[in-house]
Amino acid sequence: MTDFGIIGTGHLGSMLAEASIRRGAIEKERLWVSNRSQKKALRLAEELGVRAANNHEVAKRSDIIFLCVRPMDLEEVISEIHEHLTPDKLVVSMAMDFPLSRIQGLCQARTARAIPSIASSKGLGVTLLVLSDDASEDDRSQLFRLFRAIGWPVEVTEEQLDVLSDLTSCGPAYICALLREFALEASRRDGKIDRGQAEKLIRKTLIGTAALLEDMSFDELIFMVATEGGITEEGIRVIKAHSQELFRSLFLATSARHRQVKDGIGDLKG
Ligand SMILES: NC(=O)c1ccc[n+]([C@@H]2O[C@H](COP(=O)([O-])OP(=O)(O)OC[C@H]3O[C@@H](n4cnc5c(N)ncnc54)[C@H](OP(=O)(O)O)[C@@H]3O)[C@@H](O)[C@H]2O)c1
Repeated sequence: MTDFGIIGTGHLGSMLAEASIRRGAIEKERLWVSNRSQKKALRLAEELGVRAANNHEVAKRSDIIFLCVRPMDLEEVISEIHEHLTPDKLVVSMAMDFPLSRIQGLCQARTARAIPSIASSKGLGVTLLVLSDDASEDDRSQLFRLFRAIGWPVEVTEEQLDVLSDLTSCGPAYICALLREFALEASRRDGKIDRGQAEKLIRKTLIGTAALLEDMSFDELIFMVATEGGITEEGIRVIKAHSQELFRSLFLATSARHRQVKDGIGDLKG
């Protein structure tokens, strides 16, 4: 039987614990959790019946250890539990911008990276997975089994991670930010539409659209709505004309930030 550990039970770590237990991907007796401020881990122990401990105990007891701390804290955590990160263990880092090669240089364990999405809390998130060369087929199937329980795991290369995580991990926030502006503009049109009502209607429309997209491509759905010479076609024309610049700027800004975080990590000792 495999024991799992989660070190760092902030937003992501607690989502992973809750979703994996509630969806039956991990048995509660087999999940160990720790956090710098202990009360977050104790809350999970109380609510889910998992085992709260300190970082050492979690690393010692677990076969697969998820490191859910911020990139700047990762090196310190690995150094702290280093003695338990032996070749029979799999360490899975959730940290953006912290390369596998750096983790491999810090410990003896087999290594992987996983970047889930907030939508995994509803069992509907894409998780991007990168496995190192020393990871086994069993590691691959364990990770796929676990992340399939909370959405859709996809194996990618480390070079693809920055851009793809913009789509899948930042994506839910970007979609909301765009639609928030859509609702805001609707409410500015002539003062007859309340912003709250506009947001509520768009949220419902988004849920319906997401259901349609289960078995339809973007192009197919657009084709069904935007009849030739109709109103939607006019709107689509405007979106096409302006969105390339918007998304080009978005990727430029996020890649600059990725670079900044990577440089910050590079400056850490080690
Ligand atoms: N949030 C997302 O949607 C998302 C998506 C993909 C990837 N990620 C990645 O996931 C990681 C965590 O993100 P987050 O949003 O969950 O951040 P967060 O809410 O700040 O959680 C980080 C947690 O790590 C704990 N921590 C820090 N140092 C520790 C240590 N030495 N030992 C044990 N616990 C320690 C913190 O404890 P305290 O309570 O004491 O501060 C905090 O609870 C980041 O690397 C991020 O890049 C996040």
